[in-house]
Formats: sequence, C-alpha cells, structure tokens
Amino acid sequence: MTTTSNITDTSMTASVDRTIRLIGAGQTTGSTCSPDLVKAPWELDGGTPGYGPGSSMGDVLPTGAPRQGELPARYRAASARELDARIRAAKATLGDRVVVLGHFYQRDEVVQYADFVGDSFQLAQAARSKSDAEAIVFCGVHFMAETADLLSAPGQAVILPNLAAGCSMADMADIDSVTECWEQLEELYGTEPDADGRVPVIPVTYMNSSAALKGFCGEHGGIVCTSSNAASVLEWAFERGQRVLFFPDQHLGRNTAKAMGVPLEQMPMWNPRKPLGGNTPEGLDDARVILWHGFCSVHKRFTVDQIEQARIDHPGVRVIVHPECPMPVVDAADEYGSTDYITKAIAAAPAGSSFAIGTEINLVQRLAAQYPQHTIFCLDPVVCPCSTMYRIHPGYLAWVLEALVGGDALDAGADRPSEVLNRVTVGADVAEPARLALERMLAAKPRSEPVGVPPATVDGV
Ligand code: 13P
Ligand code: SF4
Repeated sequence: MTTTSNITDTSMTASVDRTIRLIGAGQTTGSTCSPDLVKAPWELDGGTPGYGPGSSMGDVLPTGAPRQGELPARYRAASARELDARIRAAKATLGDRVVVLGHFYQRDEVVQYADFVGDSFQLAQAARSKSDAEAIVFCGVHFMAETADLLSAPGQAVILPNLAAGCSMADMADIDSVTECWEQLEELYGTEPDADGRVPVIPVTYMNSSAALKGFCGEHGGIVCTSSNAASVLEWAFERGQRVLFFPDQHLGRNTAKAMGVPLEQMPMWNPRKPLGGNTPEGLDDARVILWHGFCSVHKRFTVDQIEQARIDHPGVRVIVHPECPMPVVDAADEYGSTDYITKAIAAAPAGSSFAIGTEINLVQRLAAQYPQHTIFCLDPVVCPCSTMYRIHPGYLAWVLEALVGGDALDAGADRPSEVLNRVTVGADVAEPARLALERMLAAKPRSEPVGVPPATVDGV
C-alpha cells in the first residue's frame, strides 16, 4: 500500500484514528485540517448547537428536539478493547431487533460493526428495506439519519449515536434563506409555465441538506439528488422546468450540469447574503442552473496541482475524484463519481493498478488496505477526515446499543429499562413533503450514458 501522507507504519488496518494520533504526536510531517480531531470527540460536544428534526444549524431548534447529552464516563474512560466487547455483546443480544448502517467515510473502528456500509443513496435504500428492525442505528451524519427516518417504516426508531455529527455543507443552506431566494425568483420569473408546460424554476436539493429543505422541494415540485444520481435527477427537473435552483453544493451542481452540456455562463451563483443572490435581473434572465453558494470543506481541498504531482510520481495512475470537488479538479481527473462509484472502480481494476483518489481519507485508506494488489493513495497529502463523520466514536455506539438492550454488557447486575437514545424524528409537517421529494428521486430513471467521465470529455465544453 502506498500513501502520500508520510505515515511511517502502514501495517495498521487503515485506521485514520491511528494516523491522526501519529499527527497529534508529531510523528508525521502531515497536519490535520482540524487539530481538535485528535481529541476524544466528547471533548467537542459541550456547547455544540443541536440539530433538531428538519433543521440545519441555521434554523431555530424546534422545542423538545433532542440535544447531544454528555457521554457517560464509563464510555469515555473505556479502552478500545472494552468498547469492542460491549458493542459485540449488545449487538448479539439485540440480534435482528437492530440494524447498524455505516457511511463509507466512517472510521474503521466504527465501520467494523455496520451490518451495511454504503454511500448516501445506498444507505437511504437500506433504511427503507430493513423494515423488520425495531431500531436503525445510523453511523453517519445528521441529514442521513433524517433521511433514514423519512424512509423507514412507521414505528422504527432511527438513532444517531452522536447528535453533533452534522455536515458543514448541509448547514450552508437553511429554510429561511432558501425561502427568501425562492420569493425573489418568483418575482423575477413569475409562476406561469411556458408553452411546453415547464414551470419557471424547479428546486433540487442535494441529499446533504436538512429535512426542511427536502420538504421545501417536495412542496414546490422539486426533488432530492445524491452524488450517484444527480444527472438523472437534473434530467427529470429539466423535463418539468425551464431552470433549476440547486442547493447547497455548487460543485456537484456545476459539475453535473456541465457534463450535461449546460454552459457555465448559464450557471450563476446565488449568494444568500446578497440581494438577488449577488446577481442582476439581466444576469439571471438566461440562467439554466442557479447554484447555491455551498461547498464541502473536505473536497474543496483537492487541487489540479495535486493531480499533476500524482501523475509525475505515479505514471499511468488513474485519478478518480468525488463530484463535490471543484470543477477544475473534476475536469483534470480521469473519472469522477460517488463514493460507491470509486469503490466499484477499484474493485473492478486489474491487479497492479494505481489510483489517486480525491475523497475523504477514511474511505481511501480502507480501500488501500482492502486492495493490497493496487497502489491506492489520497490526492491530498494532508490527512483530512470529515470532521463531522468523525464525531461518531465507538464509545457513542456502545452507549446507544447498551441503552437499547437495557443493561450493561459487562456487568450482568446492571439492568436498566430499555431506552432509545438520540432518536432522530422528522415532524409530520416536514416529513410528508420531504418524503415526496425523496420518492421522486428514488423513482427517477438512471441516465443511460455512464457517469464518471469528466465533463470536458463528454461535451467538449
Ligand atoms: P456519497 O453520496 O458519495 O455517499 O457522498 C456523501 C457525502 O457526504 C460526500 O461528502
Ligand atoms: Fe458533509 Fe463534506 Fe463531510 Fe460529506 S465530507 S458529510 S459533504 S462535510
């Protein structure tokens, strides 16, 4: 296995935890994006704004919404071995009553307990299909748990082990700013359909958004997309609307629309802090895709220089990046696609292939350990995990599972009533339209042409 991160001991099981500890101990020359990550995540919980059902961090927290409580001392103090024993014993006791879902970006220390690991689209489907389990423990971030709640069966509890695990990109769009934007667009474009029956604007929200924004899309004839189906979803939207308002990720919107042949001049940016999003009415006249000013702080780190360096260091390397990367990076890469696309591309490659990957480090390091026949490394030499995914630590997982069991796996005398902690519930008023937008996404037909080819090679833009 080869990485560009100067990690001296690569015999470990691709654990980013270990890597971050090495960085914290000054044993590598890399630096982490957030030095706070070397701390135990519970040290970051104090004062963290809570997420409420249907809220992004920018929204007012609904009354009664659960907040991350203090992780009990017995979990904070437990060794990795003890937590492992607790989690395994609790899972064995719970059996089919619980299903644990894990996103690809979760640390290995958590992924090892997941019954199903996938990208955000696959996890949404998994939440829908595991209807027999009493509880879904979602090792991911808040918007994913909300989506699981929307798609799971009534009565199933969706549990997020640490309620402070959010997504900084999702927090870049809140319901008030999107509603204000919508009102300005309605004033500008009107509300009447054209001669082909296409309405002036269709709202499209990336899965990485609050349930409230999914509900907004459901109510306004719009739809949700993920990084694996954004092209099919945009096609769906263009069949019904003259233009699209795409939030919160400008990069996914731009990369996808560009690959479909939409010129950059027809993709103005909407800055929610400025009147008309910082545009003139004339500038918006011709718009096909209005891009919200949001981005992922992890994927924004990848650069064209890194790609050039990878090609110098590893001639013949295949560069694959996530579509949340900026457009010049996607254009310079050989391929782009969702986390699932990246995983499948590596699995299908002949032995001895080399890959430079532009996505979160936990996934890259896991793939490198899983496929020792290839050379797999992260484009960014700095180890930069998604700091919000990182908030799910085995301590929180042991805590919520043992609460469900109603006892203490390591102390037979410590029986307690079974308890559902950290339940994520989307209120009915938001849930109904949000589910509609999600169902539209699940029903949108996949595009026939392959995704993953850089836009420049598709349409020559
Ligand atoms: P995927 O849809 O590829 O799982 O990505 C989700 C995400 O948050 C990427 O940053
Ligand atoms: Fe959000 Fe970026 Fe983390 Fe994905 S990697 S969950 S977009 S902050």
